[in-house]
Amino acid sequence: MELTLEQIELWAKQAGLILKQGFGKQHKIGFKTASDLVTEVDQRAEAFLTGQILQQFPDHTIIGEENGTIVGDQTACWYIDPVDGTTNYAHGLPYFCVSLGFADHSGSKFGVIYDPMADECFSAERGKGAFLNGHQISVSGVDDLKRSLLVTGYAHNEPQKLDRNNELFIKLNERGQALRRMGSAAMNLANVAAGRLDAYWELVIKPWDIGAGLLIVREAGGVVSRSDGSQNELLKPPCSIVAAAPGVYEAVLEAIQ
Ligand code: IPD
Ligand code: CA
Ligand code: CA
Repeated sequence: MELTLEQIELWAKQAGLILKQGFGKQHKIGFKTASDLVTEVDQRAEAFLTGQILQQFPDHTIIGEENGTIVGDQTACWYIDPVDGTTNYAHGLPYFCVSLGFADHSGSKFGVIYDPMADECFSAERGKGAFLNGHQISVSGVDDLKRSLLVTGYAHNEPQKLDRNNELFIKLNERGQALRRMGSAAMNLANVAAGRLDAYWELVIKPWDIGAGLLIVREAGGVVSRSDGSQNELLKPPCSIVAAAPGVYEAVLEAIQ
């Protein structure tokens, strides 16, 4: 069977339904660490996605947040975050999504981010543009940091980066129009791609957080790099990310160096 963007969208939407059905209910919350939560819904949605993928493509590699890595063909690799924004999800705050990315021998090939509460499906295939519910999207045309709506995130379990990102938070909060910290890396990337946010950075990030979104931002005309500005092999750990509209990318990068 040939892998298509439509197939991945369907799986992301089916997993999203699992999230939606569990939303607002009492959850069995596990603490990977004090700030790193997992619910039974994360596990159920990831098991669903892994099952669907392996049924069709038993030799593919899967890098999933909750169930680890299933080693297979290194040139057919999936990045699954079944619930990106688990803390929001566990608190009943509707800023979370399913994130499903796929990379082949040339890098990121497909990316789908599905927000089941808003029924918004962001998607991209390499070289074919980025879409929201079938309509083409693009990053904003902003070219002045002072007019930019910025967003950042803080990784779980990275205390040594906390102070550094706090410094950056103060700096970018002054230089931009406004700065948010909303709790879902993939949603942040989707919203940069849709031109609703102008730039996003995070100093430590996991491949499954960005495996779909980095392609969606690029296909929407945005610039994506690590926090040091390098643009190759962004899914190879240790990962960091800056994703921005081209008009403000340099100013954001300069600020976080
Ligand atoms: C987290 C969220 C958060 C980001 C963290 C991620 P999770 O993912 O995307 O916004 O700042 O780095 O780990 O745990 O909700 O899947
Ligand atoms: Ca995540
Ligand atoms: Ca997650």
